[in-house]
Amino acid sequence: MSATICAFLLTFSALRGPTVVSGALNRPTNVRLTSYNMNLVLRWDSPAGAASSLVYTTGYTSSVTAYRVGCVNISRLECDFTRLNISISEYGKYTGRVRAQLGAESSAWVESNQITLDKDTIIGSPNVSLFTNGATIDVSIKDPVFKISALRNVYNYATYNITYWKDGQKEKARSISNIQQNRVVLNDLDLWTKYCVQVQINTERNPNPSKPSRAVCESTTNEKGAPWVAAVVTFVIMAMAVALVVVAVVYRKCISHFLCPKDSLPQHFKEYLLAPPSSPMYLAMRNSHPPEEIYHQVSIIAHDRPVEEGSPLEAAGPPQWGSDSGKRDRLKSTEAMRKS
Ligand SMILES: *[C@@H]1O[C@H](CO)[C@@H](O)[C@H](O)[C@H]1NC(C)=O
Ligand SMILES: *[C@@H]1O[C@H](CO)[C@@H](O)[C@H](O)[C@H]1NC(C)=O
Ligand SMILES: *[C@@H]1O[C@H](CO)[C@@H](O)[C@H](O)[C@H]1NC(C)=O
Ligand SMILES: *[C@@H]1O[C@H](CO)[C@@H](O)[C@H](O)[C@H]1NC(C)=O
Repeated sequence: MSATICAFLLTFSALRGPTVVSGALNRPTNVRLTSYNMNLVLRWDSPAGAASSLVYTTGYTSSVTAYRVGCVNISRLECDFTRLNISISEYGKYTGRVRAQLGAESSAWVESNQITLDKDTIIGSPNVSLFTNGATIDVSIKDPVFKISALRNVYNYATYNITYWKDGQKEKARSISNIQQNRVVLNDLDLWTKYCVQVQINTERNPNPSKPSRAVCESTTNEKGAPWVAAVVTFVIMAMAVALVVVAVVYRKCISHFLCPKDSLPQHFKEYLLAPPSSPMYLAMRNSHPPEEIYHQVSIIAHDRPVEEGSPLEAAGPPQWGSDSGKRDRLKSTEAMRKS
């Protein structure tokens, strides 16, 4: 009976021959599709008791396409689809699969979980730099670099959550969130104190915040304005003051000579300057009389009544100071006065 079964099994396996294809090998385990900073990587564990020459072939599918070939005949336990020359959409839904191969033998395909890239990717930590500015600290944030696209393209409303605390007092940390600018000034800080800062990115579509940045620390100093500016200004002013004093001491003789000269003017020069002027032109100028002013007498005539239309101007009003001939006489006498 058992011999008959054995013979049947032998015959069956002989019929199948050496061309064993799918299912003969153990399948990879723990197959998972992951994403970090928008890459797309399939990972798996090797099957139990796998030969060292075992290789793997992978494939991937988006929700709208059939499976496509990924990495082929690789021996490592992961395949980065974003490294292949294939187009991957930042909003796509993807599933991966993998099978083991040994020579002509293959295992069955093992499918991974499905992921939606923008929702499920793990956002890496931002890069934070601090600059002390007296009593304030400037926080400068750099977004993580994405494998496809860029953080601000994928997530239009990404915001920063900035947490800061006095060094050694993390339990008393304060946070400011919903920050969109990548430069922020922390200004409610104590003087001469070391602060540490950590930043996370929140997005509206990815339920998880980014990995927190490495905590970076920086100390505040005394006043507003960089302390070295005050130091440099003080130094320059002091240096100028010292230089002035040195110059004054070294050249004190020259300076006092310049301000109150001891050398007197030559005697003949002094006499010349003090002597009364004797030039004929000066004398003429001093003795001359101011020139007479030439003038004409002007008569002001008041009108008692308005000028009537059509009537000659002479009729407008009675002359105040006599007739025309009287005026002429007065002009003549003025001329005579000027001639005398
Ligand atoms: C990537 O693919 C494009 C078109 O699909 C092709 O033109 C290009 O040469 C490829 N580059 C590499 C490095 O394979
Ligand atoms: C992968 O390995 C199999 C079996 O050794 C071979 O038939 C196939 O041509 C290889 N494919 C590539 C792309 O190297
Ligand atoms: C963060 O930025 C600094 C300065 O730009 C750079 O040296 C450093 O490599 C960056 N770190 C990361 C993780 O990007
Ligand atoms: C900001 O980060 C801190 C520390 O990680 C956390 O306690 C707080 O809930 C976060 N706030 C927001 C709005 O994400």
